[in-house]
Amino acid sequence: MKLRFLGHSCFYLEEGAFKALIDPFITGNPQSPISAAEVGEITHIFVTHGHGDHLGDTIPIAKATGATVITNHEIGVYLGKFDIKVHTMHIGGRVKMEFGTVKMTPALHGSGITTEEGMVCGGNPGGFVIEINNKKIYHAGDTGLTMDMKLLEAENIDIALLPIGGNFTMDVADAVRAVEFIKPKVVIPMHYKTFPVINSDPYEFKESVKGCDVVILNPGDDYSY
Ligand code: NI
Ligand code: MN
Repeated sequence: MKLRFLGHSCFYLEEGAFKALIDPFITGNPQSPISAAEVGEITHIFVTHGHGDHLGDTIPIAKATGATVITNHEIGVYLGKFDIKVHTMHIGGRVKMEFGTVKMTPALHGSGITTEEGMVCGGNPGGFVIEINNKKIYHAGDTGLTMDMKLLEAENIDIALLPIGGNFTMDVADAVRAVEFIKPKVVIPMHYKTFPVINSDPYEFKESVKGCDVVILNPGDDYSY
């Protein structure tokens, strides 16, 4: 499994013919090493919640690539108006897809979609557990620390992508507790330094986490698992 960090909470995930983006905030993302036109072939786009720094370039990339967008029901209904392929699911649900399985997990956050006509309901925010070839990756989305994360220990997560920036999500201290709950093999911090208000230090996170590898990726860095 190849993973590429595109800044903020945006990751590119590749395993064989499966080429996915999670939370494709590229245009307007000061950390993004590429433009939305440079994403290449994409088969799937995962959207954790409706905020602009996660929904991001979903619509133009899905239109340009024909990718299937996997998201919650409410965001799926909203995206349905734009003539793109959508697979909707919801919190706690797991589904078998052509590449593996996807489970949607709860997140403690908001999910409103800002449009020119005002705020559109984006349902409940979530995260994803994606399993491909017996490798499991968990993208937490934007969330505070929750007791629900203890349930993820039983999922045997290989790689957890966790926000550490504070203000909108868990800060470093809470993300360290999340790692203790989830017990992944590897954790990659995200959602920090994009904006001044989430200026957390990933090295402070790395020093505080015990019993799990912390991999700090700079935007544009690849990681293979
Ligand atoms: Ni958010
Ligand atoms: Mn966010």
